Amino acid sequence: MTGRICGTGSCVPSFAMDNNDIAKLVDTSDEWIRERTGVVRRHIIREETTVSMAGEAGKRALDNAGISAEDVDLIIVSTISSNVILPCTACEVQKELGADHATCFDLSAACTGFVVAYNTAVAYLNAGVYQTALIIGSESLSNLTNWKDRGTCILFGDGAGAAVLKKDDTRYYLPVTHSNGSRGGALTCKSRYDRSELSLPDLTKPDEKEYLMQMDGREVFMFAVKSVPQVIREVLEKNDVAQEEISYYILHQANKRIVEAIAKRLDEPMEKFPVNLEEYGNTSSASIPILLDELNQEGKLERGQKIVLAGFGAGLTWGASIIEW
Ligand code: UT7
Repeated sequence: MTGRICGTGSCVPSFAMDNNDIAKLVDTSDEWIRERTGVVRRHIIREETTVSMAGEAGKRALDNAGISAEDVDLIIVSTISSNVILPCTACEVQKELGADHATCFDLSAACTGFVVAYNTAVAYLNAGVYQTALIIGSESLSNLTNWKDRGTCILFGDGAGAAVLKKDDTRYYLPVTHSNGSRGGALTCKSRYDRSELSLPDLTKPDEKEYLMQMDGREVFMFAVKSVPQVIREVLEKNDVAQEEISYYILHQANKRIVEAIAKRLDEPMEKFPVNLEEYGNTSSASIPILLDELNQEGKLERGQKIVLAGFGAGLTWGASIIEW
């Protein structure tokens, strides 16, 4: 017994900034950003919030699954950038959707968050605790971005993606996840309790940068390129699944060069590694479900296909799961 994804949805802000817009803020260029990251545009919230995007992505996923909100008994939202602390984002989504019978909570595992949300939901379904789950990754990273730091502001974007899981008799694949808190300094952001305005921060204050993301890009890059192929091999081995059986590897969309390096290390063709970060940048826990939804809407997924989901990021955290479509 386990859960199968039976619907997906996504929601991104309508406003977008291209690389030339970023080049007006920091010393960079469209050419540099494209070559080093693959990013061309990123969508940035205006009226939207983490909650509103999560709700809309969730609604679209339920519509896609043909499931009523009243039938959902678990909602998990993965986010590091919500506009609310209390009530949690998942409870706000519950209210928005009218999913009155659901148990709701948020989880925080940065760019590995959607994989962790998936694993959590499947474990509950497998244990017989719940029957139908809605899992969402929603992020407004623009609120945590230092728009004066060219090492980070070129990368990130906002958006949300969601998937509905229903209990069925598909095989249960054991996930593999890891954390290494001692390397957490590579990507940090302190909590801020008093920031109600969505305006850009006052960077003249000496401590202001601490409340925005700070990253050792090279360290994270090296970590991703080494750890992700390893964890993918681990999850395949643990479940006795061969690489040839995998139709797609849906990776967290952080940098096109990272995806290419992982494909190379696994000796797999890039056709198995869909990429959409040119349009959205790195949307942390939203990147995997947005990409999954695009593939689903484009009709590229066929029932029975095995797909690997893999996330990596702050913590440091990383993990991989096998899903059967
Ligand atoms: O979601 C998970 C979290 N994040 C990630 O996965 C990010 C992983 N890291 C990366 O994607 C890359 O490390 C970056 C895109 C952030 C940076 O690319 P890089 O190829 O690692 O560049 P670098 O930091 O090694 O810098 C190379 C040069 C430096 O100049 P010098 O010292 O060689 O003269 C930088 O100052 O490029 C310079 N540079 C830039 N130049 C133009 C750094 N950022 C920029 C920029 N525009 N935006």
